[in-house]
Amino acid sequence: LTPDKQISITSDGIKLLKKAKEDNIETVWDRHDAQQPQCGFCEMGLSCRICIMGPCRIDPFGEGPQTGVCGADADIIVARNLCRMIAAGAAAHSDHGRDLVEVLEAISEGKAPGYKIRDEAKLKLLAGEYGVETKDRDALSIAGDLAHSMMEDYGMRRKKVNLVSRAPIQRQKVWEKVGITPRGIDRETSEMMHRTHMGVDNNWQSLLLQGLRNALSDGWGGSMIATEVSDILFGVPSPKPTMVNAGVLKEDQVNIVVHGHNPVVSEMISLACQSPELLEKAKKLGANGINIAGVCCTGNELLMRRGIQMAGNHLMTELILSTGAVDMMIVDYQCIMPSIGKVASSYHTRMISTSDKAKFPGMEHHEFHPDNAQKKAMTIVEMAIENFANRKELFIPVKPQEAVGGFSVETIINALGGTADPLIDAIKQGKIRGAVGIVGCNNPKITHDYGHVTLTRRLIENDILVVDTGCVSVANAKAGFKVPSAIEMAGPGLKEICGALGIPPVLHLGSCVDNVRILVLVSALANALGVDISDLPVAGSAPEWYSEKAVTIGVYCVASGITTHLGPMPPVTGSKNIVELLTSGLDDVVGATFKVEPDPEKAALLIRHHIEKKRAGLGLDA
Ligand code: SF4
Ligand code: FE2
Repeated sequence: LTPDKQISITSDGIKLLKKAKEDNIETVWDRHDAQQPQCGFCEMGLSCRICIMGPCRIDPFGEGPQTGVCGADADIIVARNLCRMIAAGAAAHSDHGRDLVEVLEAISEGKAPGYKIRDEAKLKLLAGEYGVETKDRDALSIAGDLAHSMMEDYGMRRKKVNLVSRAPIQRQKVWEKVGITPRGIDRETSEMMHRTHMGVDNNWQSLLLQGLRNALSDGWGGSMIATEVSDILFGVPSPKPTMVNAGVLKEDQVNIVVHGHNPVVSEMISLACQSPELLEKAKKLGANGINIAGVCCTGNELLMRRGIQMAGNHLMTELILSTGAVDMMIVDYQCIMPSIGKVASSYHTRMISTSDKAKFPGMEHHEFHPDNAQKKAMTIVEMAIENFANRKELFIPVKPQEAVGGFSVETIINALGGTADPLIDAIKQGKIRGAVGIVGCNNPKITHDYGHVTLTRRLIENDILVVDTGCVSVANAKAGFKVPSAIEMAGPGLKEICGALGIPPVLHLGSCVDNVRILVLVSALANALGVDISDLPVAGSAPEWYSEKAVTIGVYCVASGITTHLGPMPPVTGSKNIVELLTSGLDDVVGATFKVEPDPEKAALLIRHHIEKKRAGLGLDA
């Protein structure tokens, strides 16, 4: 099969899809087929249903209507649609951040049994950044004040989101000049929704500038808070060995799979899985232990901090159930297909939803809150143990692949000996040409993991360091890029540097909110070189993206000066002006653009060209 006819490049994906078919399971690929042909107007961003004078569509061939009932033209409609995607993505990640801030506050009030401040040093560092007094104060009272100060970031009392000051000064000046410094996290999302209401902002340029500000409010606001507070509560990640793919499920143990994004639930589940009382119960019922694995980002959160294994990424979330080996799947929110309850009903798997904001068909709802999470986790894990006896036939088609995860910016700098200098020297000498963050999801429109793995392979072969997050990190780990011996697949310069440091050429930086670690890392590099982020030989890429969150991430990367490649085309082709702005005009505004290229081989060339151009701009190879 050629890659474009093939559903997945992964051996567990292919084998489990065959099994799912034999079991008459309908998967995301079947439903994608059933939707063909998909709406061309929507694909181009030319349909609007913002008000009920509509719905309206613009005829891209110029023969039919060129405006909606209200008079909005293609530029306005495409801009509004894109901006609403940005607002939704920012809302999702930033609301995830809010949940962590609420746990931080609850801990300080003694109302979150089982949660604690695991990293006081990071708590104090953040408190310092927020101007919270730390001297002679206990951690809990600092935590309370920090939580309240972070809550103000969400509102409208500030002139700018606090952590914006982490960006290089040159970048902050760009934002001020263009007028896109984010003021408040919820404020920017709310204003974006206001501006895109019928009859408000009808200038596609000013709409898109607010889109950039909205995305920045997430990248340097809500998502950054999510990552930083997670580090305070659960620890700053450090490299740990782990295993990945469907083979991490164990025949002789109770298998619990966590799915979703927020570590607030999964951390408690992982603690309950270690409870001697529950392990004893598992033994009594014939299981040799309790095995917890992740799919999606909540798993990445556990992997980063505890080395917990990943059973798969987005497109594996239905297939993993057809192993028949998942005794329980516990979900929180985001990227959870509403189909999985139905898939699970063909097996013995118990499906549990946990968030007051995310309910699903075919799942039992057990709501977690900071005050009851510890107890709930014990009850739920006990239910999983009891379900072990109900297993029927098992099909675990592969052996697990080894990997190393857990590279926070702190550990990367540590591995380099305390400063970014060795990395900068390697870049200056040309041993490492540059660095690329490959991020984002899977999408049934693209052969599962083909985009991620192909692009990563081509970049490391050409001495470009790759950092990854989210679903990409699982794809790359499964492909074997995340063991130190993977340097054999890297070019000579990258091989030498990673070999000397004992690290793989592809570094797992975490979940999707952890893309902010990339912002912090490029800021450190830019500051060390005394330049702006947009001058660095770096790029971003989302080869298989699907979600609104990915749009927001792409936009905050570009607005931060990181030129970003997208595999699938966003729904903007209905407006020539907007395509032109996103792919070239933004260069004059924020010093970076989007590049769209579905073929990862060609994308690798585009990205390499961009990196060499930036090297030349810095006079590195003169
Ligand atoms: Fe149609 Fe305008 Fe209403 Fe959109 S806002 S549905 S283009 S009338
Ligand atoms: Fe994610």
